[in-house]
Amino acid sequence: MAAIQLFDAIVLGAGGAGLMCAATAGQRGRRVVVLDHSPEPGRKIVISGGGRCNFTNLHTAPDRYLSANPHFAKSALGRYTPADFLALVERHGIAWHEKTLGQLFCDGSARQIVAMLLDECAAGGVMQSLGAPITDVEHGDGFRVTQGGRVFAAPALVVATGGPSIPKLGATGFAYELARRFGLKVVEPRPALVPLTLPGDEALFRDLAGVAAPVVARAGKASFAEAALFTHRGLSGPAILQVSSYWRHGEAIGVDFLPDAAPGWLLAAKRARPRASLRTVLGGALPERLAVVLAERLAIGELAGAKDAALTAAAQALADWRFLPNGTEGFAKAEVTVGGIATAGLSSQTMAARHLPGLYAIGEAVDVTGWLGGYNFQWAWASGWAAGGAIGRGG
Ligand code: FDA
Repeated sequence: MAAIQLFDAIVLGAGGAGLMCAATAGQRGRRVVVLDHSPEPGRKIVISGGGRCNFTNLHTAPDRYLSANPHFAKSALGRYTPADFLALVERHGIAWHEKTLGQLFCDGSARQIVAMLLDECAAGGVMQSLGAPITDVEHGDGFRVTQGGRVFAAPALVVATGGPSIPKLGATGFAYELARRFGLKVVEPRPALVPLTLPGDEALFRDLAGVAAPVVARAGKASFAEAALFTHRGLSGPAILQVSSYWRHGEAIGVDFLPDAAPGWLLAAKRARPRASLRTVLGGALPERLAVVLAERLAIGELAGAKDAALTAAAQALADWRFLPNGTEGFAKAEVTVGGIATAGLSSQTMAARHLPGLYAIGEAVDVTGWLGGYNFQWAWASGWAAGGAIGRGG
């Protein structure tokens, strides 16, 4: 039998949360090992933000996260802020810029963020064991993890294996399996920040694949003013990805195609240009192909030929166009997972399991999911930092 290697903490998962946690604990003098079945750490970081990693958002606030307990993320987000992460980025000399809506990206490459986290881990003497499957996780007198013939033991185990979004990047539901095994509940995981699919009877819209427009999209009480994009399968683009996190099967989403239009704009257009068609009027504000489809669906031609009531109804429909998606493109295309390890079993201060001393869960594995735009990495950093600062304190 292989010799058992002893540590103060075993971190499962070398993603953003796991690396941040390991570096923080290591730099506090804890002996830490990070295990991952993938041979490459931080794979999602590398491909994130189109290869430039949208590493945080200046507008980070708890109300930009979904969770069964909306208060849970407050403590960690409040104690490790975007400014803290930015200070780290700047200490490592990584050039960055704000793109839009508070979203911060690397000027160069997302690989710089991975290199920074690995440097921080090295500064804390963190050991890594990557590229072999984890075959066993036991709890007795502390935790014992077997990975490809090597056995690691520690009084603390950090579950940082993320959610099941994008399996081809090594994502699995392992965190949920472990959580259940150790008595933690799991809030039903769903794909989020994911394109929505439209049924066959919406073929007119699916024919618009590639057309994008600035809209306000709504699902339930959530609404987002960003671009929507038509795809061969349905709807995507930032506005749709954002509402997908709130969308539930069987519900419609609403899309305002003309968010800047003044009340009564279509009646005013009729008075000003009675001979113009709806298609022409819409074409002044929207991509031509979209204008054609919307006018066809509303069955309105020349404005003068339409009753005022019909035009008022058309304007209302354009301000709240109802799409009834028949699904999402699933975990294969989802940027994140809504749901996960239930926060009720965790300390919001330390991410430690309440009932099992030494067990922690951080990052996307936990039922905390951010909006699009750097919020999910900020949660990974903040929750990793909270756990890394607590390991070995009995927290
Ligand atoms: P993460 O998934 O990063 O890491 C988990 C680690 O655990 C992985 O290394 C994995 O290999 C390992 N693992 C999984 N199962 C295992 C098992 N059974 N055994 C051993 N190891 C296992 N967010 C953001 O804020 N800004 C952005 O720009 C983007 N962009 C983006 C693009 C794309 C395409 C995706 C898919 C996602 C994003 N995100 C994002 C979301 C962001 O990537 C995500 O929220 C974080 O990476 C979550 O970090 P974690 O460390 O929790 O999990």
